[in-house]
Amino acid sequence: MTDDIEYRDYAKGAQPPYLTPNYKSTKVRSPNKPQYKLPRTLTEATGPVFTQDDVPADEWDLSTSATGETALGQLMFMDGVITDEDGRPMANTLIEIWQANAAGRYAHAVDTRDAPLDPNFTGAGRIVTGEDGHYRFKTIRPGAYPVPNYENYWRPPHIHISLFGRSFMSRMITQCYFPGDPLNDECHILQGIPEAVARDRLVMKFDPSVGVNGHALGYRLDLVLRGRRATPMVG
Ligand SMILES: [Fe+2]
Repeated sequence: MTDDIEYRDYAKGAQPPYLTPNYKSTKVRSPNKPQYKLPRTLTEATGPVFTQDDVPADEWDLSTSATGETALGQLMFMDGVITDEDGRPMANTLIEIWQANAAGRYAHAVDTRDAPLDPNFTGAGRIVTGEDGHYRFKTIRPGAYPVPNYENYWRPPHIHISLFGRSFMSRMITQCYFPGDPLNDECHILQGIPEAVARDRLVMKFDPSVGVNGHALGYRLDLVLRGRRATPMVG
């Protein structure tokens, strides 16, 4: 298991700095003391392990409510492959997504702003990848939402992503964005990643081949867990 314990370093500028002053959350969570590199052991590299039996099959579809009603908004598929840094498919990876509804509001007690809730949309889904590392969600395009205590700052439409690979070392939290949205250029979180090539890894590609003709748009986002080509992690 030695190969699984050590990962190559991230490329320079490919991850956001711990402290991004325009991104307020980083002020309280960024470390203010020198970091200590923990020795890695088999404990970090060998568990836990998820299987496709751990998640109900219908959780891939966020657009359909428990009563069979369809959520409001632009239907879309989000499709891609999860690989390691050498392009090998990551089987048995738990991928969870959560997002605002089409009006830009989360179905969460903390989100009390004056946009409508959708009774047919909880905004959360999850699947576990098979041997080919492939995942696919059906959902609706989320709306933008304003950030409290900022002057006219809106988060661009985005989908939050959590990945949990075969070990504690392959955990990732990030967000993905929509191509061509003007709010992407104003986003403190996305623009906090120094290198453009790394920012592009968080922008989905419009791809009709993963949509359904006459029914739903398709977007592709391939994800790389760890290593020099890793998908950037933003909270
Ligand atoms: Fe969000």
